[in-house]
Amino acid sequence: MSSEPALPEVADLYLNLLKRTLTNTIFTTEPDTEADTLRYVGAAITHYQQSSAVSMLPLARMDNLQMCILDVVERAIPGDLIETGVWRGGATIFMRAVLKILNVTDRVVWVADSFEGLPEPDAEKFPLEAKAFKSAAMTKHYKHLAVGLEEVERNFAGGRILAPVSGIVSTNLATLGQSLVAGTPIAEILDPTDIYVDWHIPNARLIEPEVGNEVLVVFGNRRIPGTIAQILPVSEVYAANQQLFARDRPATQIARIRFGSAVVPPPLNSTVYVQMFYADVTYRLATALVRLLGLQ
Ligand SMILES: C[S@@+](CC[C@H](N)C(=O)[O-])C[C@H]1O[C@@H](n2cnc3c(N)ncnc32)[C@H](O)[C@@H]1O
Repeated sequence: MSSEPALPEVADLYLNLLKRTLTNTIFTTEPDTEADTLRYVGAAITHYQQSSAVSMLPLARMDNLQMCILDVVERAIPGDLIETGVWRGGATIFMRAVLKILNVTDRVVWVADSFEGLPEPDAEKFPLEAKAFKSAAMTKHYKHLAVGLEEVERNFAGGRILAPVSGIVSTNLATLGQSLVAGTPIAEILDPTDIYVDWHIPNARLIEPEVGNEVLVVFGNRRIPGTIAQILPVSEVYAANQQLFARDRPATQIARIRFGSAVVPPPLNSTVYVQMFYADVTYRLATALVRLLGLQ
């Protein structure tokens, strides 16, 4: 990284004041990141969560953020700025302030969050995280870090959020330390209100799935009825999602399955199995059996 350009003293003073204001560190010292975990978590709850702090970044991270922005602007590296997971929005407010100081008007600061807090971890894949999710610190104190969009907008008052992105950041498409050119996607953001299943139809198959076919989507011990709404070539879906799938059976087509409004769909980004039936009568029989046996 090149050495950052020196800011006029008054700009430096302003940014320092802002960093301390956003992190509730004007009149109190910040929690000691070197302390043991229990002590740090307790101090962090008091210092950030239960105060008017709008960012939980330690000052050193704020300094780093400032240095990175100065560096990309100095070296004229094109692109916007984004924070994925903003909590009360303080770090993005700070990004805007640094751009303002530098008189940069052609870069957007993207504010991306579910605005509903952390998604619940899959207990089978991530048992430790699932346990932490249910802990008193997370449920009672941090409330799963949920901060609504209106609150973040209020924190920005005086600034403007032009295009907030609400959704679940589900797949990181870039890895830490990777060099990227401008325009390369870094994460996939999914809309939790629009859940569908993409079924990679095996090339070697017994039945020909068609739009309108009823299927059962198997998730754990649930059998969820759905309908094939679209059949898409794999390449079209790749182009839309920029996501790579590791498949054990080759597939050139995807059936996109949607659910009725009364149905509770599987959680976002989960892995499911799809069952299809040869004939409508088989489907009805199977659905009746599922209901009868209480499997749904
Ligand atoms: C630890 S807080 C972020 C703190 C923030 N960077 C700051 O400076 O104060 C985590 C945030 O990430 C969001 N979040 C976590 N996982 C997410 C996901 N998969 N998709 C969308 N938002 C997510 C939460 O809603 C929360 O606002």
